Amino acid sequence: MIIAIDGPAASGKGTMARRIATDLGVPYLDTGSLYRAVGVFTLRRGGNPADATDAIAAANSLNINDFTPADLRSEEAGNAASKVAAIAGVRTALLAYQRAFAAQPAGAVMDGRDVGTVVCPEAHAKVFVTASLEVRVQRRIKELRDKGESVNEQRVWDDMVARDARDSGRSVAPLKPADDAFVLDTSSMNADEAFAQAKAFIVSKKKT
Ligand code: DC
Repeated sequence: MIIAIDGPAASGKGTMARRIATDLGVPYLDTGSLYRAVGVFTLRRGGNPADATDAIAAANSLNINDFTPADLRSEEAGNAASKVAAIAGVRTALLAYQRAFAAQPAGAVMDGRDVGTVVCPEAHAKVFVTASLEVRVQRRIKELRDKGESVNEQRVWDDMVARDARDSGRSVAPLKPADDAFVLDTSSMNADEAFAQAKAFIVSKKKT
């Protein structure tokens, strides 16, 4: 079974996708980490993440094992990722890896922005996890504070607005729910409630 879990930054899709994968015993891929790795690698090579030549060169020589989770989870990595993600050649370079992951016999849970629309339009269950801008900003602030980082709240807000605009406004594979996605607005839900609703939908789609 292929399960696509898409949504905007800080919507809680990653936490939910990991939990669904563990619960169902299905391999999990965080597709955002691929874009984050391309963004970080572009910077490491002295390039500009918004420059197509720099970013495509980085994507084509990427070794995902060269990056630790700490390298990829920073705000700098997230911002660089949303710039390289708007470049068509970067998306093409990452497509084969994602589709091969989805094709493994054990199935896959994949989270991202375009898994249900572009990477795996044939996915058996698609969940689009979202929440209001205010709620997502508060979740990101808490996440940063929990990591012991000092937080400039206005900056977190501005970065979130900019990332939303880049993710939803780009011409290639923009963030949007697939026509057959279950849209789950978690603004007033905790993680357990959101997980329960997503799981009930996925189970209802399970192949018999
Ligand atoms: O989910 P995330 O914050 O780790 O994603 C980082 C960036 O990567 C995000 O701004 C958009 C991009 N992305 C994408 O364009 N397509 C995906 N399937 C996953 C992430």
